[in-house]
Amino acid sequence: MPRFIAIVTEWHLGFRRFNSANCKIKSYFQSGNNNGQGLISGHMNGSLSRMFATLCEKLAEDALKDSPVSDMLVDSFGRLHTYLRISLTERCNLRCQYCMPAEGVELTPSPQLLSLNEIVRLGNLFVSSGVDKIRLTGGEPTIRKDIEEICLQLSNLKGLKTLAMTTNGISLARKLPKLKECGLSLVNISLDTLVPAKFEFITRRKGHSKVMESIDAAIDLGYNPVKVNCVVMRGFNDDEICDFVELTREKPINVRFIEFMPFDGNVWKVKKLVSYYEMLDRVGKRFTGLQRIGDHPTETAKNFRIDGHQGTVSFITSMTKHFCAGCNRLRLLADGNFKVCLFGPSEEPLEELFFLQQLIEVSLRDPLRHGVNDDELKEIIGAAVKRKKAAHAGMFDIAKTPNRPMIHIGG
Ligand SMILES: C[S@@+](CC[C@H](N)C(=O)[O-])C[C@H]1O[C@@H](n2cnc3c(N)ncnc32)[C@H](O)[C@@H]1O
Ligand code: SF4
Repeated sequence: MPRFIAIVTEWHLGFRRFNSANCKIKSYFQSGNNNGQGLISGHMNGSLSRMFATLCEKLAEDALKDSPVSDMLVDSFGRLHTYLRISLTERCNLRCQYCMPAEGVELTPSPQLLSLNEIVRLGNLFVSSGVDKIRLTGGEPTIRKDIEEICLQLSNLKGLKTLAMTTNGISLARKLPKLKECGLSLVNISLDTLVPAKFEFITRRKGHSKVMESIDAAIDLGYNPVKVNCVVMRGFNDDEICDFVELTREKPINVRFIEFMPFDGNVWKVKKLVSYYEMLDRVGKRFTGLQRIGDHPTETAKNFRIDGHQGTVSFITSMTKHFCAGCNRLRLLADGNFKVCLFGPSEEPLEELFFLQQLIEVSLRDPLRHGVNDDELKEIIGAAVKRKKAAHAGMFDIAKTPNRPMIHIGG
């Protein structure tokens, strides 16, 4: 039996409480709407890898013409890494089921987390090497006491064009005016449901109205578009997809439907995944005048506008239609580890994974604290970037691969 069908048969009713419509996974896979093909498209064979490498080299050549990106940020497939995501904390004021394991996570002791000065020193190193966009994430970045100072110092780095933040919005409405003054130029606010009781179920905390307030506060402050991240999970919120799209009629927001991804401790099952094609099909049937907007080669989202709507709709298709070929992202974790890919190196046999995990996640904090200079740090970063794989190995292998919980990595 093909592996994906075997996994589908492991039926597990994780979201039964909110599963009003009976889930028809069998007919979904038999429907011939290309989902089966999309679902396994993450697996890379040799010729595909080579094709991606050629495409990436072409992109890199084009980009290098007008961009002073240092070799440190170019991987062995020619991809330029101009986007750094910095996780500021492993702590959070919510406990989202798809991000935080039920038993919680072991927190890195505070002295081992990067300090403000260390974040700014590393940020400066990346920006002076060609990074032009930084996103602050976590955990919940707004709970860091020095968040304003972090924004101020990073936004002043010469060459940085965008300072973005992904936040759960719980305390954003209050903090955003000051953060904007400190240079925060783009916000993504996470919201998975428009129903307060469902919010409490998925986040294991109250706070729905505060998130809604934060979205409005961001609009009022002139952020345009305000990005709204919605992780879609079958049986939990897939019945709300069109309600979220309806919000874009009057609000200048970009609703971003994210395919549910597997991480340690989040009980990922393929039956909970709602594919890009299925989401698009539902939106297309309900809203006429849905048009694809041209995307940049490094864009992770498939973007759409709808006639008469102020806002837009996007799909982040990491699972069924990955965007590794144009990936320009690097990650600095709160404990100072540097990660070149969100997912583990699962193209390799399992017994080699632990060793390889160490190879793609290296500490920048330790050498920094041992007094290495910027050139030595650049060598460590450059070597890690060169080890980056062509693509992730596909969702089924990812689901079996040791990785950290999402809350440790920062989405
Ligand atoms: C880890 S959170 C950190 C920032 C902030 N606490 C927040 O929730 O926006 C970053 C993003 O990752 C998304 N995310 C977390 N776990 C995910 C998963 N298993 N699949 C897809 N997206 C996920 C969240 O919805 C959020 O938009
Ligand atoms: S998704 Fe964000 S808000 Fe939810 S638990 Fe993870 S870090 Fe916290």
